[in-house]
Amino acid sequence: MSQVLVASNRGPVSFSLSGDGTLTMRRGGGGLVSGLAAVTGGPGQADGRRSGAAQDGPEALWVCAALGDGDREAARRAPDGRLDLDGHDIGGAAVRMLDIPAATFHRAYNAVANATLWFVHHLLYDTPSMPHFDARSRRDWQSYEAYNAAFADALARDAAAGAKAAIQDYHLSLAPRMLRDRRPDLKIAHFSHTPWAPPEYYRLLPDDLGERVLDGILGADHAGFLAERWAQAFLDCCALLPGAKVDRVAGTVTRGGHVTTVGVHGLGIDGDALRRRAAEPDVAARLEALRAQVGDRRLIVRVDRTELSKNIVRGLAAYRELLVNHPEWRGRVVHLVFAYPSRYDLPEYREYTEAVREAAARITEEFGTPGWNPLILQVNDDFPRSLAAYRMADVLLVNPIRDGMNLVAKEAPVVSDNGCALVLSREAGAAAELADHALLVNPYDVSQTAEAIHRALLMPREECAARREGLAAAATALPPRQWFADQLAALD
Ligand code: F6P
Repeated sequence: MSQVLVASNRGPVSFSLSGDGTLTMRRGGGGLVSGLAAVTGGPGQADGRRSGAAQDGPEALWVCAALGDGDREAARRAPDGRLDLDGHDIGGAAVRMLDIPAATFHRAYNAVANATLWFVHHLLYDTPSMPHFDARSRRDWQSYEAYNAAFADALARDAAAGAKAAIQDYHLSLAPRMLRDRRPDLKIAHFSHTPWAPPEYYRLLPDDLGERVLDGILGADHAGFLAERWAQAFLDCCALLPGAKVDRVAGTVTRGGHVTTVGVHGLGIDGDALRRRAAEPDVAARLEALRAQVGDRRLIVRVDRTELSKNIVRGLAAYRELLVNHPEWRGRVVHLVFAYPSRYDLPEYREYTEAVREAAARITEEFGTPGWNPLILQVNDDFPRSLAAYRMADVLLVNPIRDGMNLVAKEAPVVSDNGCALVLSREAGAAAELADHALLVNPYDVSQTAEAIHRALLMPREECAARREGLAAAATALPPRQWFADQLAALD
């Protein structure tokens, strides 16, 4: 196979810079690293240390943005732009971090990608007042174009003839077109990790910008989505794009003589790797600490980034309604809420974080007794603690307003010790794969969610165990290696 390039906003590594100028590298997890490792033949394992064995697959390069000061410094110190990975293996790939000017990055990432495109695809606007596109939005858009062009330039410069480029997500929706213009010899894939908005909602975007985003993705040879619903919504939007011809049977969009195939590539869990990780001593230690807090009470768990689309506040309202309508659970249940920080540069996220804290505090105040704390809220990110909570959970609550996939819904059943019942939003991409074994809810219906939690708590052990088997099988059916290999194969 020819060379493989990956482009994503957030890279597989990040750097922190200490006062004396030392850079410390941190390796991120993520399905893309193991997917890439499977393609290159690189190790790509959890510790990522290079074994010395040569990889037998294609050469790979990962292009990402420098996100903070440490990253920027690492990018500046990198000889020929490729990072010194300090002996670590990143799915067999070299990494190039783009030092995009901070103001350009801020507008592209925060104002356009996260405060506009993310809001559109997750249906998050309070439409009587937002969105509001004005001259400032145009300036932000120019930065988004510059940011995408920086990726296209880097990919065009580093790609070998005929290489495959896998461009990720809504941050980089213009890059496929820009790259095709620069390097028509490349095979280009774009993958959306988010949902895609239905046309009526997509049309909130100014017409020209909405067209630019679609045209950008149609610069790719293949556009991938996590679920059929999102792929269909993309085709629905393309059908309204001037000059585009949509063939729903073939799953293609033709525009300006170029054909883009549209495909669904569900992303699941590497079950063996997750089970191994969940059996490590740091997870066992956290499990013991949680058990000491919860005692023998039943446990309802949720694990999310504090993200508006995750619907945490309505989830808390549902828990409150459970305690009101079914007082028999008082004193017998604990709700563990892990809500990790996310996108704190955006005021909407800061306000939402506060709303989560307040809703949680109100429940504790209303129902708590000297011997019973009904709710534990943790806001610091701790993956081993999340795994411990997955192992212990009786009920897992995953109720996003909308979600591209939602991997929490897939991870917990795989590592659960005694089987856990899953209450799952029908608006998560994962619902298409897990529906048979989960209790599906409308994420806006707090009362229905409360009743589903009640039902989940009452679920007989055998039913719970049987459902867990079904959930775990569905969750591991499409591991990252297959997800990534399928996208590359779609380019052939
Ligand atoms: O979960 C969807 C997703 O688009 C991921 O693919 C991506 O990593 C993440 O959201 C972006 O989040 P952040 O802004 O924290 O990088």
